[in-house]
Amino acid sequence: MERMFGKPIVTQEQMRARIREMGRQISADYTGKDLVLVGVLKGAYAFYADLARAIRIPIRVDFLVVTSSEGRGKAAGKVKLVTELTENIRGKDVLLVEDIVDSGLTAQRLLKTLARKKPRSLNLCALLSKDECRVVDVHVEYVGFAVPNQYIVGYGLDYRQKYRNLPYLAVLDKRDFHDE
Ligand code: IMP
Ligand code: MG
Repeated sequence: MERMFGKPIVTQEQMRARIREMGRQISADYTGKDLVLVGVLKGAYAFYADLARAIRIPIRVDFLVVTSSEGRGKAAGKVKLVTELTENIRGKDVLLVEDIVDSGLTAQRLLKTLARKKPRSLNLCALLSKDECRVVDVHVEYVGFAVPNQYIVGYGLDYRQKYRNLPYLAVLDKRDFHDE
């Protein structure tokens, strides 16, 4: 696909290689366990689909849909969980799959919600992490790429619900902001 816009920061090739590694690692760590991969929609949809197929042990898939008000930081605190899991995760090994951990508020909130359902283990996996933006201490067991504090779109990540279909990760340049 032609470049739509933006400064690519992670290419499709880099992503493919990294996700393959993550899949290998997760497969090794969860061998003999009962893994439920819980994706956070919409942002994680692209990463989730690739990661799930890079995992070589039988897993269950499930999803949570969250919405948040536009913006980041404080606005991210207004996370709304709009769906429930369909799988019973009690006694299972749950891996929450996020697109990006920024302040950490969303992940912290979701981990708390999942923990109440008494899984045997609970871990977090994120394609991206903005380590310097963390407001709460949340442990990300598997990180695809650490990224600087810039607004990133593509590969599931949006700007005002658009650009999720960009097949690579790009920094959204102010000149690319198309408001309509
Ligand atoms: P939090 O600040 O860790 O709670 O991040 C909340 C959510 O903000 C993430 O799940 C993303 O949906 C969104 N987000 C944070 N940083 C970015 C970004 O750079 N691009 C697109 N979405 C982002
Ligand atoms: Mg988002």
